[in-house]
Amino acid sequence: MTPLKIAIQKSGRLNEKSVALLKNCGLNFENYKSSLISTVSNFPLEILFLRDDDIPEYVQDGIADLGIVGENVINETEVNVQYLQRLGFGKCTLKIAIPNESNLQEIHDLEGKAIATSYPVILKKYLQQNKIDATIRTISGSVEISPGLGLSDAICDIVSTGGTLKSNGLKPFAEVLSSEAILIGKDGVDRDGVVKELMQRIQSVLTAKETKYVVLNVDRSNLDTILQLLPGVKSPTIVPLAEENWVAVHTVIQERDFWEKINRLKAEGAQGIVVMPVEKIIM
Ligand code: PRP
Ligand code: ZN
Repeated sequence: MTPLKIAIQKSGRLNEKSVALLKNCGLNFENYKSSLISTVSNFPLEILFLRDDDIPEYVQDGIADLGIVGENVINETEVNVQYLQRLGFGKCTLKIAIPNESNLQEIHDLEGKAIATSYPVILKKYLQQNKIDATIRTISGSVEISPGLGLSDAICDIVSTGGTLKSNGLKPFAEVLSSEAILIGKDGVDRDGVVKELMQRIQSVLTAKETKYVVLNVDRSNLDTILQLLPGVKSPTIVPLAEENWVAVHTVIQERDFWEKINRLKAEGAQGIVVMPVEKIIM
């Protein structure tokens, strides 16, 4: 059986997390910085390390069957690929930014101005939608230095932490698109077999990330109240402690209501609360 190929970013914002996700799925492979391709030893898959901008087209053309890439890049390349799964990392926003000292007030003030970007397709659509007639200057990198060089009045680029804007004397002006990493497949990719298996593994890693494993001790007289606060994956495990009338409760809870739950558990008599990360949840 010829292994499937998955394309991931060679270096940059998404590389590390893409590699980590695949490793957490139990895939065993070398992450050589120098090589373009790596074979997974325990799963029928090959990993191609590519420039992120090239990934959508490689997947569309079937050179790779799957890819992990930012939505921003997919939208910009306007390819025909299938969205298989949102991956919850690499969150960022494509923003228009202007120099700190700029006196532009609102987006229509961009009329007649020049905007530098590596995302001309998305920017053009945005400007059309907002009926703004501005000049788009397409540059392939280091877009953030262009206003300082007098090449543009604004930029349109990816903002994640905001550090790049700040260190270049720029401030956010308008949001164009929000984005995260997506697992894509070539049109008509066979969703059974290997792809299905990989997607199930990814799903179990993602589900696990949203949950915590909690162990706490409680006097039996408070147990019912505590259990009502803790809807577990199925039902919590209760283990008697050496101290009479005390039990340990083991369960899994959602990270998002974590803090609220912890405080209420304490208030209801829970002690020695231990919270641990969960690696995978197989449903
Ligand atoms: C984007 C953008 C900035 C940086 C912003 O590049 O071009 O350089 O990220 O991040 P920050 O807000 O955290 O400072 P990206 O990672 O998409 O790489 P690429 O454009 O070179 O592919
Ligand atoms: Zn890129």
